[in-house]
Amino acid sequence: MTAIAVVEGDGIGREVIPVARDVLALLHPEYEFYPVEVGYATWQRTGEACGADAISLLRDADAILFGAVTTPPASDYRSVVLQIRKELDLYANLRPIQGNRVDIMVVRENTEGLYSGIEWQEEDRASTLRVITRKGSERIARTACRIARERKNQLTIGNKANVIKSDVFFRDICIRTAEEMGVSYTTAFIDALTLDVLMHPERYDVIVTTNIFGDILSDAAAYLVGGLGMLPSANIGDSHALFEPVHGSAPDIAGRGIANPIAAVRSAAMLLHHQGDIAGAALIEDAIRLTTEAGIMTPDTGGKASTREVGAAMISGLSRLMEQN
Ligand code: NAI
Ligand code: MG
Repeated sequence: MTAIAVVEGDGIGREVIPVARDVLALLHPEYEFYPVEVGYATWQRTGEACGADAISLLRDADAILFGAVTTPPASDYRSVVLQIRKELDLYANLRPIQGNRVDIMVVRENTEGLYSGIEWQEEDRASTLRVITRKGSERIARTACRIARERKNQLTIGNKANVIKSDVFFRDICIRTAEEMGVSYTTAFIDALTLDVLMHPERYDVIVTTNIFGDILSDAAAYLVGGLGMLPSANIGDSHALFEPVHGSAPDIAGRGIANPIAAVRSAAMLLHHQGDIAGAALIEDAIRLTTEAGIMTPDTGGKASTREVGAAMISGLSRLMEQN
C-alpha cells in the first residue's frame, strides 16, 4: 500500500492541491491519501504551525504532496517549509524548468547555506550565518552528477566564489565530485549565470548551486516557461520525499479560484516519477499539454479559465489518454 500525505497548507495551496490529488487518484486508485494540517491557519487555530504529530505523519508517508504555506513576517514564527526540510533531511531541491527551447534542471542545496537558521540580532546589526558543510556539499554534488549522467552529462556549478570564501569551498567540492563521477562541468558566477540562463537557456542542462542562489535562480527562470504557476519541485532526502509547486500561498489571488494548478499537477508527476511510475508521469505531462493547447488556461498564463475548469479538463484529457494506452 502506498501512503501519500497530502498537505494543502494555506492560500492557493488549498485550491491547487485537490486538483493534483485527483490526478494521482485517477492514475493510482490504490493509493491511500491522508491529510496533514500545517501552516499559518493551523498556527492561528492551535498555536502551532507544524507540531510533532504532523511531522510524525509526514515521516510515515511514502511520499508527501505539499501545497504552500504562508509565512507571516513575525519574528517568533518559524518557517514550516524550512522546518520540514530539516526534520526530514530533504537535502536536494530539484526544480525542472521545462518548456519551449528550455530543459534545465536546477539542483539546489536545501538544508544549509544562508537558510541555516543561525541568526541573531544586536542593537545595530542583524546577522545570519551562512553555513556550507562538506557533507552537505558532497551529497548535493553527487545528486546533481547522478542527474546529469541521466541527461546530457553537462553540469554548471553556480557560485559566487569570486567574493564569498564559503563558495570556493562549495565550488571545489562540486568540481571534485564531477571529476570523480565522470561528469563534464563548467563553473559560473551566479549573477551572470542568471542572466545567461534567461538569454540562452538552450546552453544549460543541470545547474547545481547553494540554497538561496538556487531559490532565486529558479524563480527567475520561471520567466522562460510562463511564470510561477508552471514550476514544480521535488525535495528529496535519503528516506523521505516531498513534492510541491515552487510558488507560495499567493494571498493576492487566494480564494478567487483562479490559481494555476499546473505547478501542483507537475509536482504530482514528479512524485509518480519518484515512485517509479515513469509512464504515469509522462501521461500527466501529455494531459497538461492537451489542456494548454486547447486554450484552457488560468489568467496568469493568458487564459480565462478557473482552477477547477483547468483541473476538469486535465482529468478528462488524462482519462482519454489512459483509455488509449
Ligand atoms: P507567491 O509564489 O505566493 O506569489 C508570487 C506571485 O505569483 C503572486 O503575484 C501570485 O499571485 C503569483 N502566483 C504564484 N503562484 C501562482 C499560481 N499557481 N497561479 C497564478 N499566480 C500565481 O510568493 P509570495 O507572494 O512572495 O509569497 C506569498 C506567501 O507564500 C508568503 O507568506 C511566503 O512566505 C509564502 N511562500 C511559501 C512557499 C512554500 O510554501 N513553499 C514558497 C514561497 C513563498
Ligand atoms: Mg522561492
